[in-house]
Amino acid sequence: MARLPVIVVLCLLFPSAYAQQNTANTAPPAAQSCVACHGAQGQGTGSYPHLAGLGEAYFKRQLDAFASGERVNAIMKPIASGLSEEQRQALAGYFSALAMQPGGGQAGEAPTGPGRELALHGRWQQDLPACVQCHGPGGLGIGADFPPIAGQPAGYLRNQLKAWRSGDRPAGPQGLMGHIAEQLDADDLKAVAEYFASLPAAKEANNE
Ligand code: HEC
Ligand code: HEC
Repeated sequence: MARLPVIVVLCLLFPSAYAQQNTANTAPPAAQSCVACHGAQGQGTGSYPHLAGLGEAYFKRQLDAFASGERVNAIMKPIASGLSEEQRQALAGYFSALAMQPGGGQAGEAPTGPGRELALHGRWQQDLPACVQCHGPGGLGIGADFPPIAGQPAGYLRNQLKAWRSGDRPAGPQGLMGHIAEQLDADDLKAVAEYFASLPAAKEANNE
């Protein structure tokens, strides 16, 4: 058997301990220009979505889509177009590694009713899976491709669903969201957006 250097063996035995030493998350200079709307910690402000903890691949895809105009937004278009490929990648890495703080986002009293029904159980007559099947329990996201939606502003969430319906946003991996949004009517959009907006954007630390 080939002899491995001691450090490699230690890394193999204690991967998490060694990984942690390399996770200093320094803000790339371009992140300064995001603060005014998305907050100093990417926590979002007012009607602007939070960026902290969005998956890296998802994040990069959105910046590319804003820049190309595939995802239509008059504010983000010039910002994303002005960033180089490397800057977009660096920003995606940075914000995806920032954690949302418990209490962040737009959490309030979660409404019961049709929005909650759709979120937790879907609607089988229409072939609609529950939102949480892909967006995770509590809408906190799964992996790099299924973004967290809990605690995002209700207006923002509703606009995204509308954008899929009108073709102003690319449908994403396997066209999943395009297919889903198509089947929701105006009342559904409003109800489900209000439901997810009211959920906390991060778990309590002792509740992980
Ligand atoms: C002047 C305000 C403003 C500034 C500055 C700004 N943004 Fe945005 N950003 C927005 C708005 C508005 C949206 C929502 C767009 C939509 O509805 O599709 C958004 C959405 C986004 C999204 C999509 C989030 C999601 O959940 O899909 C990303 C990613 C993003 N911004 C990254 C950035 C980065 C990185 C910077 C800094 C380089 C930045 N933004 C600076 C206003 C701003
Ligand atoms: C089969 C999987 C799947 C289901 C079920 C699903 N989604 Fe999604 N959703 C996705 C994927 C994948 C994306 C990322 C799309 C992209 O990359 O552009 C997404 C993105 C979103 C976004 C954009 C988030 C942001 O930050 O801009 C919203 C809002 C959303 N989904 C709402 C919903 C709602 C509401 C439901 C239930 C009615 C739902 N989704 C059900 C897969 C799913």
